[in-house]
Amino acid sequence: MILVFLGPPGSGKGTQAKMLAEKLKIPHISLGDILREEVRQGSDIGKRAREFMDAGKLVPDELTIELTRKRISDPDCMSGCIIDGFPRSAVQAEAFDNMLDEMKLELGKVIYFKVDKEQVVERLSGRRSCKNCGAVFHVKYKRPKVENKCDLCGGELYQRKDDEEKAIRTRFEVYAEQTKPLIERYQKQNKLAAIDAGGSIESVFSRLLSVVGYGRN
Ligand code: AP5
Repeated sequence: MILVFLGPPGSGKGTQAKMLAEKLKIPHISLGDILREEVRQGSDIGKRAREFMDAGKLVPDELTIELTRKRISDPDCMSGCIIDGFPRSAVQAEAFDNMLDEMKLELGKVIYFKVDKEQVVERLSGRRSCKNCGAVFHVKYKRPKVENKCDLCGGELYQRKDDEEKAIRTRFEVYAEQTKPLIERYQKQNKLAAIDAGGSIESVFSRLLSVVGYGRN
């Protein structure tokens, strides 16, 4: 089953996608993580993407479309995957429909993470990510065992450049203009499932499991 996670910056898509991928034993594909890795490696794609990402703007559609096409063609995605952060524009959504058709893959559900802006700003401003493995923590809600060190690999934690105030503002504007309209598109296709993404990580995960048909027991 292919699941797409859609929602504003900081709504918890990445956190929940990791947890669900582990439970369902399917890959988690985060376009943000893929792009950050390209930047880290200093690849041509990374060099092109960096300034857009730091400013909180969308990187050009052709880059994300090709990266997604390449990744979902990998054999480990054939029995399903969770895509977090794609599509984010009408052009990407159209290209995504076409690539699924070509690959004879079916979109299961688009999970829309609904949460108010105040919670999201608090989540983003407290987020810390591992420089080495990309694991995500929060200074209040998901504290590392040792301050500023990743629980998984011991790497140093840092604050993403796009989690600074100016870039957060731009990301919200971009989301409202380009990504939010996709909600209607998937509603019309009868694929949309909205969840209340407010509250604790565990409570959101319980709701998510119910929506994808794995009620907790
Ligand atoms: P990306 O990395 O995807 O950023 P985003 O969509 O803005 O999402 P975030 O990663 O900020 O938030 P999230 O919803 O995953 O929240 P998280 O789980 O981390 O993209 C970055 C950039 O890449 C874009 O701006 C763009 O430039 C580019 N890009 C990516 N995809 C693209 C595309 N398709 N087209 C063009 N450009 C693209 O949680 C946030 C924090 O809150 C964490 O600290 C977490 O621990 C904490 N938290 C999570 N859930 C809870 C909870 N329930 N309670 C308390 N704290 C919580």
